[in-house]
Amino acid sequence: MNLFENETHQNYLRYHIYPKQGLLNDPNGLCYFNGEYHVFYQLNEEKTDHSVKAWGHATSKDLVHFERQEVALRTGNNNYDSGGIFSGSAVVHNNQLYLFYTGVIIENGEELEAYQCLATSKDGRHFEKQGPLFENPKGYHIFHVRDPKVWLGKDHKWHMVIGAQLEETVQGDIIHYQSDDLLNWDFTGSIFEANHENLGFMYECPDLIPFDEQDVLVFSPQGIANERYRFQNNYHSGYFVGRFNYETAKFEVKSEFEELDYGFEYYAPQSFTHNHEVIQYGWMGMMPTEKEQQIPSIKDNWVHNLTMPRRLTLKSQHLYQTPIKALDNQFEKQAIFSKTQQVNSKAIKLSFEPHSEFNLSMFDHLNLSYEDGVLTLGRLGWTEATKNEVRRLQVKEINHIDIYLDYSTVEIFINNGEYVMSGHYFGQQSDIITVAKGDFEVAYYNYLNS
Ligand code: FRU
Repeated sequence: MNLFENETHQNYLRYHIYPKQGLLNDPNGLCYFNGEYHVFYQLNEEKTDHSVKAWGHATSKDLVHFERQEVALRTGNNNYDSGGIFSGSAVVHNNQLYLFYTGVIIENGEELEAYQCLATSKDGRHFEKQGPLFENPKGYHIFHVRDPKVWLGKDHKWHMVIGAQLEETVQGDIIHYQSDDLLNWDFTGSIFEANHENLGFMYECPDLIPFDEQDVLVFSPQGIANERYRFQNNYHSGYFVGRFNYETAKFEVKSEFEELDYGFEYYAPQSFTHNHEVIQYGWMGMMPTEKEQQIPSIKDNWVHNLTMPRRLTLKSQHLYQTPIKALDNQFEKQAIFSKTQQVNSKAIKLSFEPHSEFNLSMFDHLNLSYEDGVLTLGRLGWTEATKNEVRRLQVKEINHIDIYLDYSTVEIFINNGEYVMSGHYFGQQSDIITVAKGDFEVAYYNYLNS
């Protein structure tokens, strides 16, 4: 069964969240409330561009089957969110849902103001805007202050991190507020120590994830220079491992900044914790706009999707990402092959243990190869300019690979989630999977009832 039952357009994805119409970007407001999961997301309802954003909304009992709900938050005729409802997060408190988002004022394309706002809901269906929570701090760009992420700290207080840009140095930053009641917030400043590493001009979508012994600070910095094996896209999402000190409200960085995904389209992830599991969704999309506007699904009047829900675990300072069990259980084994296999669905999974160099061709369109310690994902792009694009990952040893293909989207999990590569692909040339190099068996699964 499709993720959204009864949506059967031939090109719609089967197990990813996509917009039925318009453009989807960041996951927002992820939470579990009143016996169901809520996934909100940035949505341009009318058009497949970034002109105006609302919060789309879908609910689920199991993160496998979803129902579309009415758009939760739309721009208002007011002086704080008339230009867009930008990204944010949700928490549950006293049987109410608290949604924190950035309201923006944009006039004639000019980005004028940004406000951190609250909306509440008693039933998870009707949302009441409560307006801006505070004035943004001095010293930061008036528009580039956004994406509030709220969590309940180990000190039992509420904490909020917000992505920002320092006015004077034009550097990215993450600022912090704290509160006892979710309504009154005190500014504590930047969460970084004074000598922190500069990762670009704007840090979007911060997310502080508390694990048992350590904390992980995920964010999406803009302005890191491209490298051959890392930071290959226009913008990047990754994390520091460290410790958030609840007394000083500073994040002590104890690792390098590491990317979360090495594929073509991945950005602005957000997590939530339920039943002691940390689950993260990311946006499978990427600026710049010119390239995005060529994406073939635009002719069907929709573009982009979220990743599958990925469970995060922290092992030796590294985040592992794996599709949640409930979703993985929906795949049914069809065959095992070692040379070539014709598949009869476009929603499939492939698993194998290569142990040495290999080359796998999917649909004569996507290619995954491993040689000299470099894993390369190639795709035939959808325009002349994007033809034969590749993304590369340096990895010493590969012992396991799971590839999830869903019509026009692919997620590849390397070494049981040690690394991930995600991206769109359009225009399969065949329905054949070929092991062009390597001596191993591939297990092929179909997504159930797809
Ligand atoms: C990240 C982002 C956020 C912003 C939202 C607007 O993709 O730019 O910083 O809130 O998208 O849609």
